[in-house]
Formats: sequence, structure tokens, C-alpha cells
Amino acid sequence: MGICLAVTGLIIVGVVVGVVVAGKKTSSSTRSTGSSGSTGASPNSPVQQTDPNDPSKFTKDPDLHQAFYGMAYTPVGSQLPDCGNSLAAVIQDVQIMSQLTKRIRLYGADCNQSALVLEAIKQTKVDMTVFLGNYPIATDNGAAYQRQRDVIQDAIKTYGTDHIGGVTVGNEFMLNYLNANSATDPNSAVGDQGAAILISNIQDTRDMLTSLGVTLQVGNSDAGSYFNNKVLAKVDYGLANVHPWFANVSADDSASWTANFFQEVDIAQAANISNNPKMYIAETGWPTKSSDAGNANNGPSLASEANLQTFLDNFVCQANANGTGYFFFEFCDEDWKDKQFGGVEGWWGLFSQDRKLKNVKIPNCVAP
Ligand SMILES: *[C@@H]1O[C@H](CO)[C@@H](O)[C@H](O)[C@H]1NC(C)=O
Ligand SMILES: *[C@@H]1O[C@H](CO)[C@@H](O)[C@H](O)[C@H]1NC(C)=O
Ligand SMILES: *[C@@H]1O[C@H](CO)[C@@H](O)[C@H](O)[C@H]1NC(C)=O
Ligand SMILES: *[C@@H]1O[C@H](CO)[C@@H](O)[C@H](O)[C@H]1NC(C)=O
Repeated sequence: MGICLAVTGLIIVGVVVGVVVAGKKTSSSTRSTGSSGSTGASPNSPVQQTDPNDPSKFTKDPDLHQAFYGMAYTPVGSQLPDCGNSLAAVIQDVQIMSQLTKRIRLYGADCNQSALVLEAIKQTKVDMTVFLGNYPIATDNGAAYQRQRDVIQDAIKTYGTDHIGGVTVGNEFMLNYLNANSATDPNSAVGDQGAAILISNIQDTRDMLTSLGVTLQVGNSDAGSYFNNKVLAKVDYGLANVHPWFANVSADDSASWTANFFQEVDIAQAANISNNPKMYIAETGWPTKSSDAGNANNGPSLASEANLQTFLDNFVCQANANGTGYFFFEFCDEDWKDKQFGGVEGWWGLFSQDRKLKNVKIPNCVAP
């Protein structure tokens, strides 16, 4: 009985978390914003490239360690209609991120971000894998999906699959679909209607890969308590957002809460499905500030660098040791999200928008 209640409690929190996340958070690839086509590489670059003509020659920062299983990443200026990202800026990001992790995940494919990241990995010659992303919209008759599928296909043709970990189809698709249709249960009849759209996109991506003659894993990403079983049955991997901050958990409890939630909700759900897709944490992290005082905390979960440090210290090396695959959220603060959504949305980076490490110590362990 006690166990039952505990699990139910987690799922309810998960649903609430999902709704809260949905209310504030958004696509890293598809929302338009008037302010996204900005910066590019910062003028006083944080990376010392020792040969200006060779991005593979750069000085390593002794404060950085390859402690993270993976990192959530969106190049600056990757939202339509403005775009504005640049290869130079992505190369600089890859130079930094390669000192933190061997894996990054993208959310979408607009503004040529798949090719830019693969080109940056090629030029920097770093040992990195990218999970490409396709961010479909439920209400556009497949336009966003097809547009992104086509550029992902081009990128695979140009760069091959050596540095691609998989193709993730869908980001918070079920969460958004259910919210838009005033439903909450991803496995209800309404959930299955949304799932049918996603499943046809997933199958289409598999067909595209087959037509190229390549073998790549195909996955799906959603809020941690929003997976539809029929979708999970069609993917090789699932990426689950698990956010202690949005669940009103204190920084001290955040790592164990995250581990428990992921285990009891996502791993358990996937284990119940015959293909048993591999589950990863798609996003977990901690914001360091809020643009307004009202959003600076969710109950005991206070946005601060000190609390990000607490989460880093209690989560990163422990999750590595436990064999948990996760993508830390996130590499850098995202100015466009702050401008569009305010609150804590723009302030989840380990690094600031100008690529300076915040006042945190990167844990000193080596991720698998
Ligand atoms: C996409 O990026 C790649 C790598 O930098 C470049 O070769 C290609 O021309 C770009 N395509 C477009 C449409 O910008
Ligand atoms: C696993 O499947 C059984 C039978 O369909 C179901 O009763 C149970 O709730 C499922 N467990 C999870 C964690 O999804
Ligand atoms: C978290 O706390 C805020 C107030 O700070 C409240 O509005 C919200 O409902 C709480 N959420 C959960 C999941 O408890
Ligand atoms: C790692 O596993 C231990 C033991 O199962 C658990 O208590 C802890 O919460 C886990 N931590 C992480 C970050 O996964």
C-alpha cells in the first residue's frame, strides 16, 4: 500500500510537472522569435584556438571534465524564421562541449543545425556523437516533420552515420497534443490519436533511413510521464524529461528524486513493453536565476548557482556510476527563451550566453 501510494504520488507529480513544463517551455527549434538571429561566436572567445585555420587545435580548459553522459544543445539562432546560427559559433560550442561530454542531443533540425553540428565535429576532429532531432507539430499536416526529415536526410548523405547516435522523432509531442486537446492521459483514446501521428512519422523516418541504406536507431522524446505505449513499442530508445525543479523538490533532494522518478515511471514503463526500448533522461538540470522574482522558486526549489552546484554534485557522477544515460540540461543559457518566456526559462546553462562557465565546479569524474 505504501509503495503503491508512493508510485502514484510520483506519477501525479510527473503529470503536474509535465503541465508546468508545457505551460512555460517550448520548442527549441520551431517557435518563431524575433530575437533569435543574434550573436554567433562571442568576440572575446572563451576557447583558445592555437591554429586559427585549424579548429581541431585548441587549448583545453583545466576546469572542464568529461563528466557528463550527454548534453542538451541548441545552437544559437536555430529557430525559424530568422535562423542566424553560424558554423563558427557551432565550432566554438563543440570545442567546449567536447571537454564535457561525448554526446549531445539536438531538439530539431531547422536552420541547418544537423549539418552544422556534424561539420563542426568533423573540423574539430573530436570524439563526439550527436542525436539528431526532428520536432514535428501536430496541427500542420506534417509540414514541419517533412521539412526536418529532408534536411536530416541531406546531412546523413553528406556526413554519414559515424558521429550520429540516433534520430529522435518528436519532442514533447504527446504533452503538447494532450494539452491542446484538454486531456492528460497519454494512453487514453485521445493520446492514441496523437500517438498515431507520431508513429507514422517514426515509420517514415525508418523508411528514409532504409532508403539511404543506413542503420540508425530511431527514438522519441517526451515529458517523463507522457509516453504512449504504442509509441514506445515503435522506437529503439526513449528520452524522458525529468525535472526536479518543476516538481518543487529541494536541491538537496533533487538527485535522488530524479533517479527515483526515472526508474519508477520511465524505466518501468519501457520494461513493460516487449521491445523494451532503451530509456535515457532527455533533460535534467537546475536553473540559476529567474528574470522575475515571482518565478525564482517553486516551493523549496530555488533557482541559484549554489543549487545547480548541489544538483551537479549529487547527480552527475552517481548517475554515471549507476549506468543512467542522461542529457544534462543544458550547455548554455538561451537568450531567446528568456525574451520569449521570461522566468527561469533562459537560465538553465552551465555556461552563460557568452560561453563563460558559471560559478560552478564541474564534477571530476569520467562519464562512460
Ligand atoms: C548547412 O551546413 C553545411 C555545413 O556547414 C554547409 O556545407 C551547407 O552549405 C549548409 N546548408 C545551408 C542550406 O546553409
Ligand atoms: C505493465 O503492464 C501491466 C499489464 O498491462 C499494467 O497493469 C501495469 O500498470 C504496467 N506497468 C507500468 C509501469 O506501465
Ligand atoms: C509548486 O509550487 C508552486 C508555488 O511556488 C505552486 O504554484 C505549484 O502548484 C507547485 N507545484 C507542485 C507540483 O507542487
Ligand atoms: C544511484 O543508485 C542509488 C542506489 O540504487 C540510488 O540511491 C541513487 O539515487 C542513484 N543516483 C542517481 C543519480 O542515479
